[in-house]
Amino acid sequence: MPGLEAEHWKIEDLDFSRIALDKVRPDENLFYLVTSASFIESGSDLYTHNLVDFFRGDDEVTDWLSNYWEPEELQHGQALRAYVRHVWPEFEWDTAYRGFLEEYATYCKVELLAPTRALEMTARCVVETGTATYYRAMARATDEPVLHDLATRIATDEVNHYKHFYRFFRRYREQEKLSRFRVVGTIGRRTLELKSEDADCAIRHVVKARAPHRADDTAYVQQLSARMNSTIRTNLSAGSTLKMLMRPLELPARVQTVIQYPIKQFMQHVFLR
Ligand SMILES: [Fe+2]
Ligand SMILES: [Fe+2]
Repeated sequence: MPGLEAEHWKIEDLDFSRIALDKVRPDENLFYLVTSASFIESGSDLYTHNLVDFFRGDDEVTDWLSNYWEPEELQHGQALRAYVRHVWPEFEWDTAYRGFLEEYATYCKVELLAPTRALEMTARCVVETGTATYYRAMARATDEPVLHDLATRIATDEVNHYKHFYRFFRRYREQEKLSRFRVVGTIGRRTLELKSEDADCAIRHVVKARAPHRADDTAYVQQLSARMNSTIRTNLSAGSTLKMLMRPLELPARVQTVIQYPIKQFMQHVFLR
C-alpha cells in the first residue's frame, strides 16, 4: 500500500501551458463542473476530522485518512482551482470559496455519519463511487487535453480511495455481522444523496460570484445543475459504477445479474433531474 501512494502525482506534473483555451473557456457548463468540484474537494478537511473522530482507535484507518486520503482530496481541490485560475482568471475563486465554506461547514456534522462503522464505510464507498463517476465523465466530456489528464488522474485516485474504504468495510462487516439488508439501505440512501446538498451548495456559491444577478434565480440555478447532471449522465460508464456500488453487497453472480437492471434504472433516475 505505501509503495503505491508514494508515487502519487503532483500538481507540477500538470502542464498548464498546454491548455487549449479555445476548447474550454467558452464552455460555461464545464466551468461550473470544474469550479464546483474544486470547492467541494477543497473543503475535504472539514470532513476528515469527523471521520478520524468516528474511527478513533483504529490506527490503520485514521493513519490512512490523515496521511493519504485528506492530502489527496485537498490536492484535487488545489489542482482544480489552479485549472480554474488559468482558464477563467476573472473568476474570484477565493471570495466565492469563502462564502461556500461558511455554509458548507454547517453540513459537515458528526451526527450525519452512519450509525455504525461498517455502514459508514459503506457510505464512503458510495461517495467515492460518485466522485470516480463524476471525474470519469468529466474526462470524457472534454477534448481539452490538460483537463482530460487532470480528471483522469483524479478519477484514478477516487477509485483507489474506494478500494481502501472497501477493504475497511469488509473488516467491519465481519465484526458487526451486518446484514445485506442494512447495506442495501445505506447504498440506496447515499446514492440518492450523492448529488444533493454538497453539490447544490457549491453551485449556488459559484453562481453568486459568476453571475451575481442570477444568484437568487432558483430556476436558473436548477437549469444549470440539470445541464451538469446531463453531462455526467451522458458520459457515465454505468457498468463500472454499478460494479462498484454493488460490490459491498457481496452477492452471488447469479443474483447480481438479476438485480443489475433495476439498479441501472435507479442510477439513471439519480442523474436525471
Ligand atoms: Fe477527490
Ligand atoms: Fe476520494
